[in-house]
Amino acid sequence: MTDDAETLRVRALTTLTTARDRTTLLTSCVDDPDLTAQHSPLMSPLVWDLAHIGNQEELWLLRGVAGREAMRPEIDGLYDAFEHPRAERPKLPLLPPVEARQYAAEVRGRVLDLLESTDFHGTRLTEAGFAFGMIAQHEQQHDETMLITHQLRKGPQALTAPDPAPAPLYTGPAEVLVPGGPFMMGTSDEPWALDNERPAHRREVAPFWIDTAPVTNEAYQEFIEDGGYWVDRWWSPAGWAHIREHSIDAPLFWRRDGDQWLRRRFGVTEVVPPDEPVVHVSWYEAEAYARWAGRRLPTEAEWEKAARHDPTTDRSMRYPWGDADPAPEHANLGQRHLRPAPAGSYPEGESPLGVRQLIGDVWEWTASDFLPYPGFRAFPYKEYSEVFFGPEYKVLRGGSFAVDPVACRGTFRNWDYPIRRQIFSGFRTARSAEGV
Ligand code: AVJ
Ligand code: FE
Repeated sequence: MTDDAETLRVRALTTLTTARDRTTLLTSCVDDPDLTAQHSPLMSPLVWDLAHIGNQEELWLLRGVAGREAMRPEIDGLYDAFEHPRAERPKLPLLPPVEARQYAAEVRGRVLDLLESTDFHGTRLTEAGFAFGMIAQHEQQHDETMLITHQLRKGPQALTAPDPAPAPLYTGPAEVLVPGGPFMMGTSDEPWALDNERPAHRREVAPFWIDTAPVTNEAYQEFIEDGGYWVDRWWSPAGWAHIREHSIDAPLFWRRDGDQWLRRRFGVTEVVPPDEPVVHVSWYEAEAYARWAGRRLPTEAEWEKAARHDPTTDRSMRYPWGDADPAPEHANLGQRHLRPAPAGSYPEGESPLGVRQLIGDVWEWTASDFLPYPGFRAFPYKEYSEVFFGPEYKVLRGGSFAVDPVACRGTFRNWDYPIRRQIFSGFRTARSAEGV
């Protein structure tokens, strides 16, 4: 990393400020009772996320980087995600909204002072401004979590944003062939990449075909109309047991009305738009759809090769479009819109082979379990990634419309249980190619 200290200072300040503006929006558009209520047992009260954001910032920047004493040691336990599961959090003696805001603002004030005098060398935490980048990403991840809480919340609309532009007609192929051979997966030199994205390593990938766009609502509706939720052979045994036990027969937030599907989206009911990527499906649903379609989910390595490998240079890029940071013409990121853009959007964001919308719009389920790369080392804490490695979690890639560019890269890894679908999750499908 050759950036000078002034450049790093500006980048840290900009990303922290962008994150805080979004946190402020998400926690000021509803009133205090809505901030302290639990809108779903899957989620924390919004006021927990707010103080947790401040507490992690205090922990890693003020205590970790600057070596300060705890500001309020008595509250640390309340905001430790591992001490209290989400369902329990509303019963804790949480800081009320005014105090939570004040605490987060006080931490931020001290962090901005610290940023003025930080020299970005010497420790792994400060090198290239890593801890500042990590904390900006952490806040943005909780902003996405809070947006999910807003989506789950009953009641009138609290957030608005312009819709994405209508997509120009996409006339390319439905799938492309990704040639077999090795590529470099993960990264060792992206300064703000998190521990689970590291290190870069060679991966052999057999040739495969992959969809040029995420699966749309229209395509998914064909699966529903074909009785897909009632044919056990499309489902894994665990998936079948889950949908039967919980009476699941459509994506979350969908409701049938005569011969059309409606869905509730941030407090507004609308007809399901046919050309948008399907969102709010579980890994089990994605897997069943793919089997019904005679296809399968891409593995994580296949997904990343499709997203990063440039066959003409044999190099892995930061993003499908190259190494440039995401701009609005590349991808639907950063909660600029409150929905995915139509399939086939963002021609300027496509990969060298012509795969679109790999970044932004919807998180994409992959076939893979969340596992460490060879040579993985937990940094700076085991509870970010390491404690989650194993077969219970499936990997999602690419980021959604609710992900900020600072927390999105071709190497970025997300994970969740295969039953989860309150997240902004969709998918695309793949199939193996023989002898290409
Ligand atoms: C990477 C989205 C699975 O929200 O559980 C936030 C991110 N880690 N605080 C999560 C995270 C610690 C994490 N995910
Ligand atoms: Fe957190």
